[in-house]
Amino acid sequence: MMLTRRKMIGLIGGGVVLGAGGAFGYAATRVPQTAFLPWDMAGRYEDPRLRALSWALLAPNPHNRQPWLADLAEDGVITLRVDRDRLLPQTDPFQRQITIGLGCFLELLRMAAAEDGYRAEISPFPEGSAAAGLDGRPIARITLSADPSVARDPLFAHVPERRSNKEPFDLARPVAPGALGPLGAVVRAARFGGTVAPEAVQDLRVLTHEALRIEVETPHTFQESVDLFRIGRHEVDANPDGIDFTGPLFESLRLTGQFSRASAADPSSFAFRSGLDAVFANADTAMGHVWLVTADNDRDTQIATGADWVRVNLAATAQGLGFHPLSQALQEFPEMAGPYRAVHERLAPDGGTVQMLARIGYGPTVGASPRWPLESKIMNA
Ligand SMILES: Cc1cc2nc3c(=O)[nH]c(=O)nc-3n(C[C@H](O)[C@H](O)[C@H](O)COP(=O)(O)O)c2cc1C
Repeated sequence: MMLTRRKMIGLIGGGVVLGAGGAFGYAATRVPQTAFLPWDMAGRYEDPRLRALSWALLAPNPHNRQPWLADLAEDGVITLRVDRDRLLPQTDPFQRQITIGLGCFLELLRMAAAEDGYRAEISPFPEGSAAAGLDGRPIARITLSADPSVARDPLFAHVPERRSNKEPFDLARPVAPGALGPLGAVVRAARFGGTVAPEAVQDLRVLTHEALRIEVETPHTFQESVDLFRIGRHEVDANPDGIDFTGPLFESLRLTGQFSRASAADPSSFAFRSGLDAVFANADTAMGHVWLVTADNDRDTQIATGADWVRVNLAATAQGLGFHPLSQALQEFPEMAGPYRAVHERLAPDGGTVQMLARIGYGPTVGASPRWPLESKIMNA
């Protein structure tokens, strides 16, 4: 969730930012120093396991929690574990979304290994899993073996430019219906759906808008996000995860005391109201929607859905199409029951689970999101 820069400037009217420019001008223009380095480090490791992992950690994942841990105790094998301190108990009570993010990670790992001439054999949940939640058992066991004949994946080329675009899209630039075909074509396991039809898009705008309102106005779910706000470059470098706010505007708002975790969580504050307004602007400017539905909701299915999802995101990147997951209506906390039912009636009328939903459109170019360095995610090397 993101307070967009343009929206905030509109709300403030420029005064504060200009005022801050004199006193804080230099500080406000500084950027994070280390938070984006993993994007440059991808592929630059000697060990083939580390090379593949250095790409995998660029995967999309809920609230950028990066809950992955790679156990390298066994030669030639990566055991993927989940860091249970990085779950989202309020908005993702069964860790369905966290598991999808781990599926995205595994798919990038597979593609990166193939690019390097290694076949990655991935066995999800080799010791089993539970529907209630992720326990201490491994998420996957991955064996890498050299195989020059392994097929390269053309989607891999788009990994460095892939983004979740959390800015409003251009209402004057429709998405051509033909754009959906290439997105659906890369899906392997889930059922792909998509629309750019104005009436259907409008209905989904309303639905996703309402779901965002509920998540933000429900104190226990919104607080989970606010606790993950990283405000300004120092916080982002110190914790390169969560929901990051950097750039001159946010540095100025932070320095002038107008944007903090406390003010963002206070419904009577300017920061709270502008935050809500900004997320609505995103939902309301969807120019199309895409989604994935699965017949069952097993852990293996969630992993396969993650693989499909990052492939759709990469296929959108290949077309220059903005892509932004909007998961609120799919979340399983009680206050969301209404939108959850509505989104399932609309997108999965014959049953199944709507696993992912995103808006698509053309938006401004956005930068990469922060990542923890690979070294901090390795166990038993
Ligand atoms: C399962 C899943 C659910 C997500 N849901 C949302 C969402 O509801 N809203 C949002 O802004 N981003 C959502 N995202 C995108 C993440 O916030 C994003 O991947 C993360 O911040 C890293 O940024 P990046 O994708 O640009 O690298 C989701 C991603 C995944 C994998």
